[in-house]
Amino acid sequence: MAGTRSLLLLPGDGIGPEVMRQVRRYIDWMARKRGIEFTVEEGLVGGAAIDAQGVPLTDATLEKAKAADAVLFGAVGGPKWDGLGFDMRPEAGLLRLRKELDLFANLRPAKVFDALVDASSLKPDIVRGLDVMIVRELTGGIYFGEPRGIEDLGNGQRRGVNTQVYTTAEIHRVARIAFELARKRGNKVCSVEKGNVMESGLLWRQEVTALHRAEYGDVELSHMLADACSMQLVRNPGQFDVIVTDNLFGDMLSDEAAMLTGSIGMLPSASLGAPDADGKRRALYEPVHGSAPDIAGRDMANPIAMLLSLGMALRWSFDLHTEADMLEQAVQNVLRTGMRTSDIMQPGMARCSTSVMADTILRELDKLAA
Ligand code: IPM
Ligand code: MG
Repeated sequence: MAGTRSLLLLPGDGIGPEVMRQVRRYIDWMARKRGIEFTVEEGLVGGAAIDAQGVPLTDATLEKAKAADAVLFGAVGGPKWDGLGFDMRPEAGLLRLRKELDLFANLRPAKVFDALVDASSLKPDIVRGLDVMIVRELTGGIYFGEPRGIEDLGNGQRRGVNTQVYTTAEIHRVARIAFELARKRGNKVCSVEKGNVMESGLLWRQEVTALHRAEYGDVELSHMLADACSMQLVRNPGQFDVIVTDNLFGDMLSDEAAMLTGSIGMLPSASLGAPDADGKRRALYEPVHGSAPDIAGRDMANPIAMLLSLGMALRWSFDLHTEADMLEQAVQNVLRTGMRTSDIMQPGMARCSTSVMADTILRELDKLAA
């Protein structure tokens, strides 16, 4: 269905706009060199939306996100908006998108590129060849559970409350994604919770086990407590294939896994909803890194995570696997030449800017497409 692929770009704050600019260049490249066209719209989110429109995400932008085949999201937040209440913070724009688009499954691959084995803080032997997929539940758990709030108890005391809550259906739908993914990879799922202290964790373990027994007996399933998992991720990350876990543990474990790869500036993610009658899923793609206000506007950020996020969109939303492979190959080839943005800089390598990294990737794509 050429010509009907629609993308909504939400660059956001900090380094979001400058890495998103490189995505635009790649989209132009696709049209020029591959004859693959996207209809592209752009909108505001996060602090940029607060400043211009008074809220972190307007209803109009939300409607555009619902209508698009895929949303590409940069990053949100910064010191300027730190003092605002929860509903008005830049992050609220992202959380609203996740919730209202019902993007319950967050796929966060942590893959070590050969050329970056030495950039990890762990020994090369431990991280070489690492390829873990974290599937994080994204629309439930303590992020959204009720009751929540800060209550004034009167006597100079206050009480802060959040609620961890999961239902069978919420657990099954995300576990299903993990099992399906595992079948296409190493065929192993490790389900992670704190069933030793939390009822919601115990339910998680029981429901994943039940679904496994009923439908996915061919996949190897193990269970791990979240604290043990965070330890095993640095001790022996190679034991993992797919990890499935809740919203909060997934948030933490995915940052940890990302750092194993040397830089959080390298990692993309996909947030997916349920397939509709035509098999199409709502989807949002974003780099795992944040808005990095300290380096924003200086042409220093690593554009690779953002570009690879578009790569995930090519795979999951547009079935453009050849193009996605080519983009990943181009990134690997460029890293092999020694080109590095500051975040992955190492002795003996050549430091480059955001735009030069993107230039070089596009030139490499020219070669691969020739
Ligand atoms: C992430 C981020 C978000 C989260 C923030 C920005 C709300 O840390 O995507 O991992 O906690 O989910
Ligand atoms: Mg996080």
